[in-house]
Amino acid sequence: MTALPALPAKIHPLVRAFLDTRAAIDETLLRFGSPVHLVFPQVYAENLKRLRTVLEQRLPGHRICYAHKVNRSRAFVRAAEHAGASIDVASPQELAHARAAGFDASRIEATGPKTDGFLRDLIDSGVTINVDNAWELRRIGELAGDRERVPVLLRVSGFAGIPVSRFGLPPQQVDEALELLAAQPAQLSLRGFAFHIDSGEITERVRAVETCLTLIERAHERGLNPSVLNIGGGLRQVFTADADAFDEYVRALRAALLGRGEPMTWANNTFGYHIDGGAVHGTPVFHKYANTVAAHRMLDDILTAPLAGHGGRTVAGLAADNLLELWIEPGKALVDHAGITLARVVFVKELADGTVLVNLDLSRDSVTPADQEVMVDPLVLPGGVRPAGPVGVFFAGRLCLERDMITNHKVWLPYYPQPGDLVIFPNTAAYHSDLSAARAAMHPLPDKLAVDLRSGSFQVCHDSDYEPRRRAPHTGAP
Ligand SMILES: Cc1ncc(COP(=O)(O)O)c(C=O)c1O
Repeated sequence: MTALPALPAKIHPLVRAFLDTRAAIDETLLRFGSPVHLVFPQVYAENLKRLRTVLEQRLPGHRICYAHKVNRSRAFVRAAEHAGASIDVASPQELAHARAAGFDASRIEATGPKTDGFLRDLIDSGVTINVDNAWELRRIGELAGDRERVPVLLRVSGFAGIPVSRFGLPPQQVDEALELLAAQPAQLSLRGFAFHIDSGEITERVRAVETCLTLIERAHERGLNPSVLNIGGGLRQVFTADADAFDEYVRALRAALLGRGEPMTWANNTFGYHIDGGAVHGTPVFHKYANTVAAHRMLDDILTAPLAGHGGRTVAGLAADNLLELWIEPGKALVDHAGITLARVVFVKELADGTVLVNLDLSRDSVTPADQEVMVDPLVLPGGVRPAGPVGVFFAGRLCLERDMITNHKVWLPYYPQPGDLVIFPNTAAYHSDLSAARAAMHPLPDKLAVDLRSGSFQVCHDSDYEPRRRAPHTGAP
């Protein structure tokens, strides 16, 4: 028999050990019910350490600002604080959360769109404001009053050859911003320049770095003294345990879209492909799930990339030569493999055309970021003996909406699932669990729990109660 299409997930050994400890899972579900999100702060700390090691090898001055928006978890925020990282907040609530978790203003920066009220909070608390637009900069100048100078970064976007972003100042508006900064030295202090590019393309970041270096020179010409180059987040996750299997699944899916082989999509979904002239064209919306380059390797590739306009010197070398502190704002890279979601099968039904639906006590928005299709297979842990499979199924959600399908692509299971079986969604901590989740039909959001391996046994507590064990020996570089 040829192997069935499969999207095996990469699973961290600590998470695997938890999943292999059935008693720990059963006890967790008994205490907290289902569905639940589990976060693993120890995996988070490991991810942080890996990125920090790369920075330490390449640069004297650096900072990791955890992009809080990736997950609401307090345990992750505590893990970041405990490890001596900084934090990037994007709302008044995230600011309050970071403060309550122990971050002082010197380790907080604020990014994204900000209201007048949020700007006032930020100015009052003295955090660094990563300025998105000209209005914001002017407003900060007005609100600053007689307080200490407000530290700001200018976020730049609109680099040549890079897709337009709604965030940041276009390079042609930077001169005006620099004029304003130079005119208000008592109110505003330019710490440096920032960008955030959400693609895996190293060349795009290198181009952005070159533009920022030019802008830094222009700032110096106006008597300003920027010392930070913030290259944002966007470091990739690795979801798949088997890149060949992923490619094989996508090949089968494309064939199915052309009517060849077994149907593999729910409700004629095409996942961003278009079909024309008997062929499948385009890039699927789920392409990020195919990535195999780990975040720390991507970071190293960025830092060691040569800058054409600077005689081939590297990003890290140039930052070091110019005494620049290099900041990164990783979100998903820090929580990669540090979260899973558990749900239960409520019932299994067969439709008129033979399609098998596995209905769960969970909705799509709790395991799917911004409605993107998630291309890793959930795992099913059976409760007892099962009728033999395999069986191709679609997972369906708990809302009475046609579109509440947890998978719109077919998933093959080794056996026919039954009510009560446990379903595990791997790697859900990065945006999957929190970005879109709503309380539709008054369903509460799944509880969030932190799992910690202590002295060989798994301890599970509410995410809000988690405390890291002992002070990590950190080097002083935030
Ligand atoms: C300004 C900024 N920095 C960092 C991030 C984190 O990005 P990622 O999770 O891709 O690392 C985001 C995400 O949207 C962002 O908007």
